[in-house]
Amino acid sequence: MLVTSKELLLDAQKHGYAVGAFNTNNLEITHAIIKAAEAKKAPVLVQISAGALKYAGADFLPMIVAQAARLASVPVAIHLDHGPDFKTVMLSLQKGFTSIMRDASSLPYEGNVAEVRKVVEACHALGIPVEAEIGKLGGAEEHVVVSDRDATMSDPDECARFVEDAGFDFLAVAIGNAHGFYKGEPKLDFTRLEEIRSKVSVPLVLHGASGIPDHQITRAVGLGICKINIDTEVRNAMIRAIQAYMAENPDQIDPRKVFKPAIAAMQAVVEQKIEIFKSAGRA
Ligand code: G3H
Ligand code: ZN
Repeated sequence: MLVTSKELLLDAQKHGYAVGAFNTNNLEITHAIIKAAEAKKAPVLVQISAGALKYAGADFLPMIVAQAARLASVPVAIHLDHGPDFKTVMLSLQKGFTSIMRDASSLPYEGNVAEVRKVVEACHALGIPVEAEIGKLGGAEEHVVVSDRDATMSDPDECARFVEDAGFDFLAVAIGNAHGFYKGEPKLDFTRLEEIRSKVSVPLVLHGASGIPDHQITRAVGLGICKINIDTEVRNAMIRAIQAYMAENPDQIDPRKVFKPAIAAMQAVVEQKIEIFKSAGRA
């Protein structure tokens, strides 16, 4: 069933688990995510970035996800990931998204607040919750590349002020997490997370979770992370499975046959993440 992310994340916060938020670009990824959520009886967010909207078409991808969500036996929210501007937010609302992120974290504090407030006003009028971010994640997301030197962690006092000033529903934090694959082993700053949790009451979101070791994810969930974003590991599973299949079957030209093992590989990744996030059986 299609739901908003608010009910999902408030339940996660109440019961101490995290809901997985997995990125999609096409029909096959969408199927893999929903099949995994159904197999694990877990609520899930299927998220679409501005780049994915552009690639697959705003008149196609959200409809595929919405239809899959309506037919699903588990609760599913359609989330705009890293909404880059007001226009993309409006387009997403028009196309039926049930959860919005406005990422203005690259702006100075006042600009971030102003951008998020504008989006909150529009979204809340429609009953749609909003995620916002403060601090800068390292790595690459879509076309935005932030070097490790420019990555800045979220300041706990600023987090509290940000929630108060901008009035959004979920806070994405920068605590040593980064987009894409990590170069070495990531080390989340749990002391910082604990301090943020003590000052902020809205559900917290962890981006860049691909490649973070399971024990650190478990600890982050224990410290109040309620939504966890995964993109890279699912993409990787899909492409590696296609490569392996084509190496074995170099003459295959039926995309349905090529995608079958890729969908299974993606589903396996999503199922494994759902287990670690402790959202299995929560639907
Ligand atoms: O918003 C999307 C996620 O933060 C993706 O992170 O590159 O670690 O999968 P990832
Ligand atoms: Zn992200």
